[in-house]
Amino acid sequence: MNMTPFRAGTISIFLFAGLIAFSGAAISAEKFKADPGSNATWTGEGGLDNFVGTCAPCHGEGGKGDGMLAESLGEGVKARDLTDAKYLSTKTDDELFKVVKFGGASVKLSDAMPPQKDTFTDAEIKQIVQYVRNSICKCKYEGKKK
Ligand code: HEC
Repeated sequence: MNMTPFRAGTISIFLFAGLIAFSGAAISAEKFKADPGSNATWTGEGGLDNFVGTCAPCHGEGGKGDGMLAESLGEGVKARDLTDAKYLSTKTDDELFKVVKFGGASVKLSDAMPPQKDTFTDAEIKQIVQYVRNSICKCKYEGKKK
């Protein structure tokens, strides 16, 4: 079947979807700014030491997934490259918070990503998440991508 007549329509649907995703990101960035009021410590400051101490052994100090333990996590298991802005911008702060607090298994990832709920308070986990955002992926949530 010749699909040519549909092409322009399809492209504009994509553009439209892109626009929605874009404005969604703008809205969440806006909300993100307003939100920390309820939790004034959610700035990412202080996340550095905890990241280096606890996450770097697997994810590497720069977050590239190349920490000392990265090779020993098990067959085919890799500590996620946290510098991957494209990937991390599909994850909300809440999703990152959840995987750090409850571990990989809580989001159907490898249980080699250990839960930190007994190590850090929620406020500390939020700081770590913001540290990852501000200093590692240098990215924000930009909407779900396919
Ligand atoms: C023992 C090694 C190890 C430690 C320590 C560790 N991680 Fe991970 N992490 C992993 C592995 C392995 C994965 C990938 C799991 C998968 O893809 O199935 C992962 C995945 C992640 C992801 C990606 C989640 C997703 O949705 O794809 C984030 C974010 C993350 N880790 C952050 C952290 C942070 C922050 C810390 C420190 C508080 C930390 N990790 C500590 C091994 C570790």
